[in-house]
Amino acid sequence: MKKAKKSEGPKKWVVRTLAIDIGGTGVKAIVLDDTGHPITERGRIKTPRPATPQAILDTIDELAKGQGACDRVSVGFPGVIRKGVTSTAPNLDPSWKGFDLVHHLQQRLGKPVRAANDADVQGFGAIRGEGVELVVTLGTGFGSALFVDGRLVPNLEIAHHPFRSTKTYEQELGDVVLKKIGKKKWNTRLEFAIQSLEALFNYDRLYIGGGNARKVTLELPENVTLISNMAGLLGGIAFWKIDGSRSPKRPSHTR
Ligand code: BGC
Repeated sequence: MKKAKKSEGPKKWVVRTLAIDIGGTGVKAIVLDDTGHPITERGRIKTPRPATPQAILDTIDELAKGQGACDRVSVGFPGVIRKGVTSTAPNLDPSWKGFDLVHHLQQRLGKPVRAANDADVQGFGAIRGEGVELVVTLGTGFGSALFVDGRLVPNLEIAHHPFRSTKTYEQELGDVVLKKIGKKKWNTRLEFAIQSLEALFNYDRLYIGGGNARKVTLELPENVTLISNMAGLLGGIAFWKIDGSRSPKRPSHTR
C-alpha cells in the first residue's frame, strides 16, 4: 500500500517591503519580511551630487534592482515631508521643495510607497512604545523624532534650532563639524546637548543613532541608549503595521 504523503500545508507567502533610507552621504536599501526582519544584504550607494530628486530617484532605482522583487516600499527622507511631499532637505538639493516623492517613486517602481522623515523612521525601528521617547540621529545632519506611547509627533526638527550661542544643533554636532573639531570635543558638546534635551523634553528614554553614533565615547546616563544605524531601514516596516498590540500606529502624515 502506498504511504500517504505528509501534507506540508500551503506555502507561506512573504510580503516583501523594500526599505530605503535616503541620507546626505549614502542611500541605503534592504528588503524586510512581514515581521520586519531583513531578508537581503543591505545595499548602499553614495548620495549623488547634486542630490536632485531625479538623481536620487535614479539611485533608488538602481538599489531596488539589486534587492530583487518587492511588494511595497518604505522611504526615510532627510527633511520635512508631509503626505509624501517633501518641503525641506537641508543636505540635499534645494529643488526638493514641494516634490511629490511618493507619487514619483510609485510611478517608477510600480508599487505602493510610504515615506516619512528619516529620523521618524529610525525611531520606529528603535522605540519600545511606552512613555515619552526621543530619538536623535547623528550623521550628515542632526535628526530628531519624538514618540508618546508609540505615537509619533511627526517632523520634529531640532536640527536647526539654536543650541549654543548663535549656532544650531546641526551646526555644532553635524558631520562637518565633527571632522573639524575631532571626537573628544564633539563628545563634550554631545554631553551638553543630551543635558539640554533632557531638560526640554523630560523623556523617559533617549535613543542615539545615525552613522556617527559609533563615535560616541562619553559615559551615557542610564536612560540613554545607543542604537544601530540599521534602525533607519528596519523602522520602514512600521508604516505597514496598521494595528497590532506592540506595533506603532501608522503615522497619519504618511501615505
Ligand atoms: C534635517 C532633518 C533630518 C536630519 C537627518 C536635518 O538636516 O532637517 O529633517 O532628519 O537632517 O537627516
